[in-house]
Amino acid sequence: MRNKSIHRFLEKLDSIAVIGLGYTGLPLALRLAEQFNVIGFDNDPVRVQQLQQGYDSNQEIELHLPANLLPIFTNDPSQLANPSVYIIAVPTPVDSANLPDLHFLKKAVEQVGQFLKLGDCVIVESTVYPGCTEAYCVPILETVSGLKLGKDFSIGYSPERINPGDAVHHIGAVIKLVAASDSSALEFMTQLYQHVTAAGVHACESIRVAEAAKLTENIQRDVNIALLNELSGVYEKLGINPGAVWEAASTKWNFLPFRPGLAGGHCISVDPYYLLDQIKPMGIKAPIVEEARRVNEGMVNRVMTHVLRHLETVKDEKNNKRVLIMGASFKPNVKDVRNSKPVELAKLLKQNNVEVELIDPLVDTQQLERVAGLTLTSQIKGRYQVIIVAVNHTAYKELGESYFCNSTFETALVIDLTGAFKGVIHNRKYWTI
Ligand SMILES: NC(=O)c1ccc[n+]([C@@H]2O[C@H](COP(=O)([O-])OP(=O)(O)OC[C@H]3O[C@@H](n4cnc5c(N)ncnc54)[C@H](O)[C@@H]3O)[C@@H](O)[C@H]2O)c1
Repeated sequence: MRNKSIHRFLEKLDSIAVIGLGYTGLPLALRLAEQFNVIGFDNDPVRVQQLQQGYDSNQEIELHLPANLLPIFTNDPSQLANPSVYIIAVPTPVDSANLPDLHFLKKAVEQVGQFLKLGDCVIVESTVYPGCTEAYCVPILETVSGLKLGKDFSIGYSPERINPGDAVHHIGAVIKLVAASDSSALEFMTQLYQHVTAAGVHACESIRVAEAAKLTENIQRDVNIALLNELSGVYEKLGINPGAVWEAASTKWNFLPFRPGLAGGHCISVDPYYLLDQIKPMGIKAPIVEEARRVNEGMVNRVMTHVLRHLETVKDEKNNKRVLIMGASFKPNVKDVRNSKPVELAKLLKQNNVEVELIDPLVDTQQLERVAGLTLTSQIKGRYQVIIVAVNHTAYKELGESYFCNSTFETALVIDLTGAFKGVIHNRKYWTI
């Protein structure tokens, strides 16, 4: 153990295993490795090899640290034999029908179960529905290990709050929620996570509270974005400029600074479905949560309708189907294209015979091809009939009106889903939400 001064609860700790080294697991493993022996386990051999070579393909983490501050990166399950704490940070996506897909979690829990020993603590960090840790993970652990919760091992839940692409709200700077199956496990987790974040730890009264808190954080964002998406449609029909409304309303101290837009990614556009799927068989309804999802899922179609309507007005001109989407990732300043709404928009436009190109300063073209079957335009050529600013990447901040005028026809439309170019573009048709 690297830090002799740590609390007595941690003194017996031999090593910690972090299972799943993606956007959430890798920063956590690195943070813990500053003070503990950490096994960073991922079942993707390519990912492990890259991490061993000091390369994070997500480009979120700087790995050029002294070896004694790094986890042991491995895809060898036998390395899970020694740790006494197992932290699970594997994906919990939804399937094509928006139903929770727990197969990554199931596999990870089974792997842990094979190595579980007396006195071990298992901590789930993946986002799940309230009750999942105790009602879904614990039975698997007990069956595979032959051990009993409470008597032989403990379980806890600590949802991740990191925000990829955000240098301010990094893992060491946000409050961590902790919850556990018994009071000594809770005390242990509290001590452990105080070494992860300087912002402190909030102990929840139950695991289900911590699970629900994580969902609530993202559902609240989803609902607020949906409200503004809905209002922007209403104001547009009333002939009122929505962007000017947000600007005016935000001068009030208690106006929440949300913006309308595309809600994709693996938190906001996934987590509400975990709750909805859980409550449906119980006959419990959450109409606001459901409606927010419906409104936000409808945004891609709304934008597409605008594009097609504009292309119809220029149908007699040359290059009348050329559309450029600026930004392919699911949110600003990340290269992640999973559940990306700009990608969904590009696919829909293609199905409608639009010649659509995607450009992005961060996204890796090979990942885009692998995940979405689309290629990235490296350098724009010629002029477009529509430019859609879909993601508010910092790199776009420097662009002025000349960029848009030089790359579009005079009759072109600029669709600015970010609102970043409001008041900048005067010589082209401009639409924002
Ligand atoms: N990305 C975010 O911004 C964010 C924020 C908060 C919470 N979360 C939650 O954290 C969890 C992980 O998300 P992520 O974005 O880090 O995922 P990710 O896809 O970036 O990484 C997950 C990693 O887990 C690995 N993996 C999958 N199954 C495994 C197994 N059985 N054993 C070992 N490794 C396995 C994958 O190879 C991958 O490297 C999800 O539940 C997500 O909802 C994500």
